[in-house]
Amino acid sequence: MCGIVGFTGKQEAAPLLLDGLKKLEYRGYDSAGVAVVGQNGIQMIKTSGMIQNLCEKTQNGSLLQGFAGIGHTRWATHGAPTDVNAHPHMSNDGKFAIVHNGIIENFALLREELKQKGFVFLSETDTEVIVHLLTLYYHGDFKEAMMKTVARLEGSYAIGAVCADCPDRIFAARQFSPLILGVGIGENYFASDVTALVSHTKNVIYLEDGELAELTPGDIYLYSSTGKPIHREPTRILWDMEAAEKGGYEHFMLKEIMEQPRALKATIEPRIQNNRVVLEELEIAEETLKSVNRILITACGSAYYAGQAGKYVLEALTHIPVTTELASELRYSNPIVDEHTLLIVLSQSGETADTISALKEVKARGAKVLAIVNVVGSTIAKLADSVIYTWAGPEIAVATTKGYTTQVSVLYLFAVYCAQILQTATPQELDQMIQQILLIPQMIQRAIDLNPQIPYLAKRYHHNQSLFFIGRNVDYAVAMEGSLKLKEISYLHSEAYAAGELKHGTIALIDKDRLVVALACQEQLFDKMMSNIKEVKARGAKVLGVVPEDMRQILAEADDVLFVPKLSPMFGVPAEIVPLQLFAYYVAKENGCSIDKPRNLAKSVTVE
Ligand code: M6R
Repeated sequence: MCGIVGFTGKQEAAPLLLDGLKKLEYRGYDSAGVAVVGQNGIQMIKTSGMIQNLCEKTQNGSLLQGFAGIGHTRWATHGAPTDVNAHPHMSNDGKFAIVHNGIIENFALLREELKQKGFVFLSETDTEVIVHLLTLYYHGDFKEAMMKTVARLEGSYAIGAVCADCPDRIFAARQFSPLILGVGIGENYFASDVTALVSHTKNVIYLEDGELAELTPGDIYLYSSTGKPIHREPTRILWDMEAAEKGGYEHFMLKEIMEQPRALKATIEPRIQNNRVVLEELEIAEETLKSVNRILITACGSAYYAGQAGKYVLEALTHIPVTTELASELRYSNPIVDEHTLLIVLSQSGETADTISALKEVKARGAKVLAIVNVVGSTIAKLADSVIYTWAGPEIAVATTKGYTTQVSVLYLFAVYCAQILQTATPQELDQMIQQILLIPQMIQRAIDLNPQIPYLAKRYHHNQSLFFIGRNVDYAVAMEGSLKLKEISYLHSEAYAAGELKHGTIALIDKDRLVVALACQEQLFDKMMSNIKEVKARGAKVLGVVPEDMRQILAEADDVLFVPKLSPMFGVPAEIVPLQLFAYYVAKENGCSIDKPRNLAKSVTVE
């Protein structure tokens, strides 16, 4: 939810911390701050608003002197996004400053205890208890104070801390919240994710739950929760700087839409060998797969819609019943699962709190868990029995695009892989399917090329205050994702409906002020969709049709059209969503919205 950075080295820390925070701003952007430790103790500056405000307030870091420090960009949970609630938080004596990502569940009890001991609280945050605990437990040993402090905390945290007595030392600790250490030469870093590190080093160490890290310019020491030293070799990250920057595009979202042919190629091609799907990374035995009698998919937001889209193909190819459930609902639903259930968990970030809880709940009841995740080494990747990574590269825009399409494509690959094992398709059918999957990157490029009119359509429709997305079968799943994309970045009211459901109530809302985006990409359902289009037209609505390029009959009814390439009936979703992603992008642009960082949202939702 929030982003944290830390640095210790032989150069001024503040400009480096600000640079790291800019890379993490997508994780939260309602307030920010930095604290630097130098010969004169800790200096701290924080402010509400985006990192740019902090750059101005610190004069690009020049107002803070010191070679070690910590920084934070916030997405408010406890307390409004004010200067006072922004992190870092400093101890009453000015000896410690800390930054925190996560939620301290027992903060109310700790707060009372600390108040009674005389500590003065300045903010409304749960975080502030941490810095007072450090003071309570500090008797000249920073590491000991850190260990005793984290032992008192319940909930989730990634913490960074500095101490005025140790001007070259920073500490980090984690529990259920990501934290990665960057190994430099004569300098070391930590950050919530690798995007803040890649411009400095590609050698990283993933901190595990319950561990503590002590960083000096020359060394990194890891400790278990009991203080036992741990040795872990650094891992080399494959993402490069270019992947984490805009590369000439006005927004990350547009760049990420355009990157999809490449991302899908990277995700699909290495997994197809000699015309078969080969999932070398899959750690679920064929025998186990053969014993599965139920597949449950869970996720949140767009990842859930990717699951909705994948369900059709998985069911068709495995002949096993597939249900898709929202993780936030599944976790409290007392799910009936057993060792014959396969749980598929989808998550771009691998850190979504509800998805993690649902995973744990279902796994504890005996199900096997397969995670489809983008961020290597993330919590979900670690908790699952097996992981298939989507090789989308870093996704910075809050609205997911390549994250979603790569998730769908991995579900396709997994479905075909199951069909190979379960022999639920003939060799000829499997051959054809594999050829169609290999064409997906090209189809996405074609979907981009077919629609140069989208910026003009956005000018025409951006004033519409309420939109409906309708479709049938897998088009309905795509409609849900298209609708979410539009609402989250343009702030227009938008709803997705199964086209056949409209007349059971919602059609009462249709009038001349509505725009209905009608997805009619299933040849066998095209006539049904034409009837639905006529129904809404008869009530005065404008219709933006979404159809394969050879189904131009829709022009007789629709006011405007978005074209998709002639799609493979089974594997068309990644190309079909592309014009809707672009439509959302250009409408949001017309409305002057903050596209990469929409209001009230954060990239990775690490709280319930
Ligand atoms: O990182 P995850 O895939 O687990 O995130 C799930 C949702 O929070 C995410 O897809 C969200 O709905 C996006 N903002 C949609 O664009």
